[in-house]
Amino acid sequence: RLVSMTDMLNKALEGKYAVGQFNINNLEWTQAVLEAAEAEKSPVILGVSEGAAKYMGGTKVVAAMTEALMETMNITVPVALHLDHGSSYDNCKEAIDAGFSSVMIDNSAYPIDENISATKKVVEYAHSKGASVEAEVGTVGGTEDGVTGGVSYADAQECLRMVKEANVDALAAALGSVHGDYEGEPVLGFDEMKEISELTNAPLVLHGGSGIPEFQIKKAIENGHSKINVNTELQQVWTAAVREKLNSDDKVYDPRKVIAPGKEKIVEKVKETMQRFGSSNKA
Ligand code: G3H
Ligand code: ZN
Repeated sequence: RLVSMTDMLNKALEGKYAVGQFNINNLEWTQAVLEAAEAEKSPVILGVSEGAAKYMGGTKVVAAMTEALMETMNITVPVALHLDHGSSYDNCKEAIDAGFSSVMIDNSAYPIDENISATKKVVEYAHSKGASVEAEVGTVGGTEDGVTGGVSYADAQECLRMVKEANVDALAAALGSVHGDYEGEPVLGFDEMKEISELTNAPLVLHGGSGIPEFQIKKAIENGHSKINVNTELQQVWTAAVREKLNSDDKVYDPRKVIAPGKEKIVEKVKETMQRFGSSNKA
């Protein structure tokens, strides 16, 4: 019942809104994001980093858990299960074989020719299994799961080559966004964004979606972004709520009660984000 990102992103590009990728960490996180998507009648992408997959017991556990939840929660909106920042062909293949409907192959640290040829190999396998592929050109800054990169803007011609030669379904073109907190206001390259979007016609992906002001999100969507990744903001609201629970209730010891407020905050945050991205009522 999981679907690839292809259809949802093409519709989003056409309709000028963005589908959120929300990164998940555990059972409750997955329940929260699915609950919010169903309530908002929004398509949704569950992002799973390699670290998060490992934490949850592997890609097989994540795929089985997600599929079972979709069934028991009666989820009717389109859901993609996506490997976030996949680091190798083998890891992407493993995720697809486990049931993931989409992968990102992040070869952005390699020279462009290598990036394209390695991405192409992943695309060939993924497409043969009905899964979608996202590639990255240029480098998104900041740290995610211990992987740190400095910002470097994507080159428009390299982006075009990636889309044409590797036939990817979505393109993460680095344009100044960073993972984690921003120091001051984000400085996104909107002119470069417009150029890359018009040249490639591909659904663009904005990594580092946490902490970007609403007007910049709107502008990014207007300029071809149809997928926006959000991780840090969810982690922050979850942790604040759990910390508050522990600080205000020194009798609590039931783990389900300790983390329940965290889950509620994720549901709220995801709903609000879907409204901001314009994906509500688009399922
Ligand atoms: O791949 C995931 C993201 O790009 C999330 O970035 O943690 O800054 O929201 P973020
Ligand atoms: Zn990212």
